[in-house]
Amino acid sequence: MTRRFWLNGDERTVAAAPTRRMSAVLRDDLGLTGTKSGCDAGDCGACTILLDDAPVCACLTPVAQVGERRVTTIEGVSGPDLSMLQAAFLRHGAAQCGICTPGMIMAATALLRREKTPSRAAVEAALGGVLCRCTGYQKIIDAVCDAGQIGPEDGTPPTGPALGPAIGAAIGAGIARLDGVPKLTGAEIFGADFSPPDALLVRAIRSPHASARFDFGDLAGWAAAHPEIVAILTAADIPGRNAFGVIPAFVDQPALADGEVRFRGEAVALVVGPEDAVACLSLDAFPVIWQARDPVTETDTARQKARIHESRADNILITGRVVTGDADHALAQATHLVSGQFSTGYVEHAYIEPEAGIAWLDGDILTIQAATQAPVMDQEETAAVLGLSPAQVRIIPAATGGGFGAKLDLSVQPLIGLATLKTGRPCRMVFSRTESMQASTKRHPAQMRAQIGADAEGRIMAMRFDGDFNTGAYASWGPTVANRVPVHACGPYRTPAYRAEAHAVHTNGPVAGAFRGFGVPQATILQESLYDRLARKAGIDRLKFRQINAFKDGDATPCGQVLQGVGIGDCLAALGPAWARAGAWAGAGAAQPGDLRRGIGIASCWYGCGNTALPNPATIRAGITATGRLYLHQGATDVGQGSNTVIAQIFADALGVSVAEIRLIGPDTALTPDCGKTSASRQTYVTGRAAAAAGAVLRSALLRRANAGGDAEISLAPGAVIVAEAGAETRIALADLAPDARGYVFSAEESYDPPTTPLDANGQGIPYAVYGYGAQIAEVSVDIRLGTVRVHRITAAHDLGRVINPVLAEGQIHGGIAQGLGLALMETYVPGRTENLHDYLIPTIGDMPDIETLLIEKPDPEGPFGAKGLGEHALIPTAPAILNAISDATGACLDTIPALPDRIMAALGAARGGPLPRGTTAKGADAP
Ligand code: FES
Ligand code: FES
Repeated sequence: MTRRFWLNGDERTVAAAPTRRMSAVLRDDLGLTGTKSGCDAGDCGACTILLDDAPVCACLTPVAQVGERRVTTIEGVSGPDLSMLQAAFLRHGAAQCGICTPGMIMAATALLRREKTPSRAAVEAALGGVLCRCTGYQKIIDAVCDAGQIGPEDGTPPTGPALGPAIGAAIGAGIARLDGVPKLTGAEIFGADFSPPDALLVRAIRSPHASARFDFGDLAGWAAAHPEIVAILTAADIPGRNAFGVIPAFVDQPALADGEVRFRGEAVALVVGPEDAVACLSLDAFPVIWQARDPVTETDTARQKARIHESRADNILITGRVVTGDADHALAQATHLVSGQFSTGYVEHAYIEPEAGIAWLDGDILTIQAATQAPVMDQEETAAVLGLSPAQVRIIPAATGGGFGAKLDLSVQPLIGLATLKTGRPCRMVFSRTESMQASTKRHPAQMRAQIGADAEGRIMAMRFDGDFNTGAYASWGPTVANRVPVHACGPYRTPAYRAEAHAVHTNGPVAGAFRGFGVPQATILQESLYDRLARKAGIDRLKFRQINAFKDGDATPCGQVLQGVGIGDCLAALGPAWARAGAWAGAGAAQPGDLRRGIGIASCWYGCGNTALPNPATIRAGITATGRLYLHQGATDVGQGSNTVIAQIFADALGVSVAEIRLIGPDTALTPDCGKTSASRQTYVTGRAAAAAGAVLRSALLRRANAGGDAEISLAPGAVIVAEAGAETRIALADLAPDARGYVFSAEESYDPPTTPLDANGQGIPYAVYGYGAQIAEVSVDIRLGTVRVHRITAAHDLGRVINPVLAEGQIHGGIAQGLGLALMETYVPGRTENLHDYLIPTIGDMPDIETLLIEKPDPEGPFGAKGLGEHALIPTAPAILNAISDATGACLDTIPALPDRIMAALGAARGGPLPRGTTAKGADAP
C-alpha cells in the first residue's frame, strides 16, 4: 500500500504494508540509517524519532499509524553546521560509541522545543526512555542543559570544554573527539548501516538446547519449499579450520557447530537469500533433529560431570596461580582474621548495537566491514576458518556501537564471509537483540572464597583466594581471566604472604569472555568486602585501613614485581574530604525516622594495562605528502573510548604540531598497521607509546632536514613544512622530495611492545609494565522494608598517570560507574529468560547517582608522557563500594550479586533480631 507523510519537511510516498515498522521504512526503504535499531521492541530508544513534535519509538510505530503527519529524524535536525544541541553534545563528550546518540538527540530536541531551559530533572524524565551503555548519562544531561541555555538569541556563552582541537599542548586538553561529528548527525556507518542493493541477508539457525547432539533432516526438501533461498550452509561447507578463538593455544569454538552444540543459541546452519524473503522467513520448521542432553550449568558440579569437550581431560580449562610466602602460616599468626565467599552471575554486555556487518568480494579479496574491537585478529581467524590466507581477507571495522570486550570475539565475520565466498554476492547479517544476547560472550560467573589476616596495627599479613570462573562452552578469554585474577586478587595493597588460584571451568552456559576487567571486578567485590570487615575488626576507619596498606613506589606485588608510579595512595588521600562529608551525611540520616538507612562504602582498584605476561605490540605509521598533508595511520579501534582522539593528541605533541593538522586514517587492515586489540585498557598506553615514538621520529627527520635544534617549531603549509627557530624560518619544499611507495615524502613507522616477562609456575614475574589505580566512595540509602537501594552519589578518584583528555577520561569513569552500578544492583543474565532488554535490566538515566570525578596524575615511568590506561579501572571499585555501603547502612552481609530486593531482605532477615541500624553486626563476629 502507498503511504504518504512529511519526512524532514518533504512530502514522501512509500509502498509498505500498514504494519511495517517506521524504523524499517526509514532505514531500509528510504536509506535514512541515522535512526538506529537496538532491540525492535521499544526497550532501548535508539530508534527515537519525532512524530509531529512528540518522540516515539520508530520500531513500535507502524507506518499506518503515521498517517499524513510530520516525521522528523536525526537527518532532519542535521545541517552543514551542528545544531546548538549537537554542538553541546560534542563539547561535553556526550557521545562515546554514538549508537544511542541519534535517539538521545531526538528525545532532547522534543524537550527543548517544549522547554527552552529544562531542569536536570526534566532532562532525565525526557531522556528516560533512551538507553546508553557507554556514558553513564551525566555528560548527556550536561549537554542538553547546556544547549538549552545557549540559544542564539540570549547570547550566553557556551560552557564546558572547548569545541575543536587545541593549538599546541594537546596533551591535557579536553578537546572534542575527532570522530564525533558523524555520531551526532546520524552519518556514522555502523555494522548494520551499509547494504548495497544486491546484498543477500544471512540468518542463523540456532540451538534451543544448551547441550545436544543433532543431525539435519531433509535440507534439500526444505530448500525446495523455499525457492527464494540462495544457499543453506552448514559446517560441511566450511573450507578451512572450523574453529576460532582469541588465544592461539585455545582455539575451540566452531563457526558452525558440527553435530554437537554446547550452549543455547549456538549456530548450526545459515540461510542466505534476498533480504525481503529471508528477513521475515520463519525458521521454526528448519529440519534439525535434536537429541538434547542434560546440560552442565554450574562450576561446582562441572568438576564431577561429563566432559564438555571430549578432547580435554576434565572441565577445568586452565588454572592460574600466584604464590608468595607462606600464606597458611602467616594467616595462623594474624591478629585479625576474616573469611568469606561470594557468587556472581552472568552479566551481559548489552551494548546498544547488536552485532552486524557485511562482506563482499573486491577482486579476490574478501572484504568485511563489521563491528569489532580487534581487526587484525578478525582477519587472521576469519581467514583460518575460510581456508584463506590473511592477505586474502581485509577487515574494515565499521563504527562499533559499544563493545566492552564482547566484540573482541568473532561474531558475524566468518559467517558472512562464508556466505559471500559461496554465493559470490555481498552478504550481510544483523543479529536480533535476542540473538546478540544468546550468542555473545558474558562476564564470567564466579564462585570465590578468600581469607585475609592482619596484624594488630591493621597491616595485611596474608591472603588466600580461590575462585571458579564459569567460562561456559568454549575457551574465549577464560585463560586470560584465570591468569589475570590471581595477580590482582589482593587489590592494590601490600600482601607479603599470598596464595591465589583461579580456575576457568567449562559448563554448557553461554561463552564467557572479556568484559571490562577480565574477572578482576568479581574478585574485587570479595576482597574489598573482606577488607571492610578486617578494618572493623581492627577498629580502624575503613579509608584509613586502605591507606595503611596501599602500595607505594618500591613495593613488590605478590608476583615479585617492584612498582613505580603508584597512585593508589594519592587517590585515597584525594577522597579524604569526600569520605568525611559522606560520613556526616550518613550519620545525619541515622537520626531520621522511617525505613531508609544511609550508608557509605569505599573500594579501591588496580589494574594491569595490556596482555598478561604476553607480547602485546602496537605499530603506528605517519606520513607527510608532497602537498603538505599529515596523515596518521591509527589502527586502534575506537569503540567509544576515545582512542582516535587520544592517540592523535599524543602524536601531535610528540611531533610538535596542532591536532588540527592531523588527518586520521582509521583502522583498516589494508591501510593501518596492527595496533592490537582494543582490550585490557591498553590503547592509550601501548598504542600511545607507539604514537609518541612515531611522532618523535618524524620530528627528528624534519628537524634534521632543516638543520634545526630540538626546540624548533614545526608547522605545515601547502606543499611545505616550516621549521622556525630563533626567529628564523626554514621552508622544506616538499615537492622537491621523492615520495615513498605510500606517497609520503616524510614518514615514520614505530612499534612498541610492553616490557613484561613470563610468569613462572608460582606466578612470579612481570605480568604488566603499567598499572592504573583508583578508588571510589558510594553513598546509598536502603529501604529496609522493601529491600531497595538508591545510590545517591559516587566520588571517584582515578590515577591516570597523565591525563591526556580530561573530558574523555571523565566519560570513561562515568560509563564504568554505570556498568558497576548495574553489576551491583540489577544485572543478571539467565539463558532463555533474560534474552532481551526488558527482562535484562541495565541502568537508565534515572538510576544514576551524582558523580564527582577526581583525576589524579602520578606519572608512570613507562607510559606515554606518563599516561596509564583507564577504561576498565573505572568499573572495578563501583560494585564493591556500593555493596560495602549497603552493609554499612543495614548490617546486611550479601554474598551474591546483584543485590536484588529479595536478597537484601533475606540478608536482613538473617541478621539477629531483624533489620539492624547502621554499623551494627548482622552476621557473626567478623561481619561488618
Ligand atoms: Fe526501537 Fe529499541 S529499536 S526501542
Ligand atoms: Fe550511548 Fe554508546 S554512547 S550507547
